[in-house]
Amino acid sequence: MKLVKTDKRRFSLKSTRTTTLVLATSALVLAACGTTSSTSSTSSGSTSQPSGSATSGNITWWASPIGQVGIRANLISHFEKAYPKIHVTLESAPTNTDTNRSQLVTEISGGSTSPDVFMGDVIWPAQFGAHGLAVPLSKYLPSSYFAKFAPGLVAGATYKNQVYGSPLFEDQGFLYYRKDLLAKANLPVPKTWQQLESESLTLEKDNLVKYGFVWEGDSYEGLTCDFMEYLTSAGGKVVNSSYTQAQLNSPAAFKALTFMRSLITSGASPQAVTTFQEPQAMAVFDAGNAAFLRNWDYAWSNSQNPADSKVVGDVGVAPLPTFAGQSYPGYSNIGGWNLYINPHSKNVAADLTFIKWMSSTEAQTILGKTYSEIPTVESVRQTLAASSSTPPPLRVAAQTRLVPRPAGTPNYPQLSTAIYTNVNGALSGSMSVSAALKAAQSQAQTALSGGL
Ligand code: GLC
Repeated sequence: MKLVKTDKRRFSLKSTRTTTLVLATSALVLAACGTTSSTSSTSSGSTSQPSGSATSGNITWWASPIGQVGIRANLISHFEKAYPKIHVTLESAPTNTDTNRSQLVTEISGGSTSPDVFMGDVIWPAQFGAHGLAVPLSKYLPSSYFAKFAPGLVAGATYKNQVYGSPLFEDQGFLYYRKDLLAKANLPVPKTWQQLESESLTLEKDNLVKYGFVWEGDSYEGLTCDFMEYLTSAGGKVVNSSYTQAQLNSPAAFKALTFMRSLITSGASPQAVTTFQEPQAMAVFDAGNAAFLRNWDYAWSNSQNPADSKVVGDVGVAPLPTFAGQSYPGYSNIGGWNLYINPHSKNVAADLTFIKWMSSTEAQTILGKTYSEIPTVESVRQTLAASSSTPPPLRVAAQTRLVPRPAGTPNYPQLSTAIYTNVNGALSGSMSVSAALKAAQSQAQTALSGGL
């Protein structure tokens, strides 16, 4: 394996990357609105193209470091053992999904033949599909290939009846808490957002910890994820189901954003959360400086890595809280990453071999067991969930209530920008909650006017 560094914005912190339940199924189908497909109707099994049986060649793989930097090299070395004549060169991608996407879009739309395969966010299929930035995998892979994934994931990777991404791992939002601190203060694991806020203030007042609750409040995609969780628990939505009407200027959105801002003004969260992405929030928690953390499943493995963490053994994991009066748990946003092929790749047969291997039991087990990523292959997910030695988020995932982002439109990047820039404005205090929602609503409506 060779490593090529292309990442211009790497965080100095250890990790980067910065999302089966019936609920998950319907949620992901919603995410893929306009993409009603079942894979069977799309998998024509075109014979004029490679079928994925290549056993030799050289390919480049664009991937961000996922929770921990070593994961990509580990996967590549297992793959190269299985296919010794296929050589994979890693192109290290930016951790921030927005930067990652914009670099890729520039390269692919400029006709670059590299990377061959890229690890891309679950929110990309509509945009990449609509603009010819990814190969429709369902042209090459039969429906039997897609049948092994957990319910909803393939629908989420589908745009206009073509599957563009092969699900690699799923992310979900979780609440991480310090078991030792809650025990000292005799406090329960919070089940409501209000309780989380008041426990944070108690723990700070008792000088047990510097900060109560840390999360992702920077102006970027991760803030859309966090906002979706409060918004959905408050009973709100971003858009209607046909993607024609933004619904951001609602009482539920007002409740959600007012609460998020109050976390900062009350002191339960530091003002600095308005600049935190996943790595910064994790670093504060892993340094022992926060009682609670909202982050993805992979944050578990970071928190239990003695090289990076001072809180090994002290961390508990729970589903996210909800608002008082709503049924527990609250909503976790669905994230995750798929594998896609560059339409200009000259090595499609070897690309497909690599992609297929990444959905093997071997690869999926490495992702789940070693890096606490939720496997996308149902059988692996079930095997791991049944074992008590499996990382806790993979077991707690059985209790989460999921909500996808409204990524069924190719204009999702603009829609999400309308959300996170204005939500961040309200969090940092540069605009009022109502002004932020008014602006978000009007910018989201403009984004939607581009159509599906
Ligand atoms: C995680 C999720 C991804 C999301 C990103 C936001 O990487 O898997 O879906 O877009 O976080 O920061």
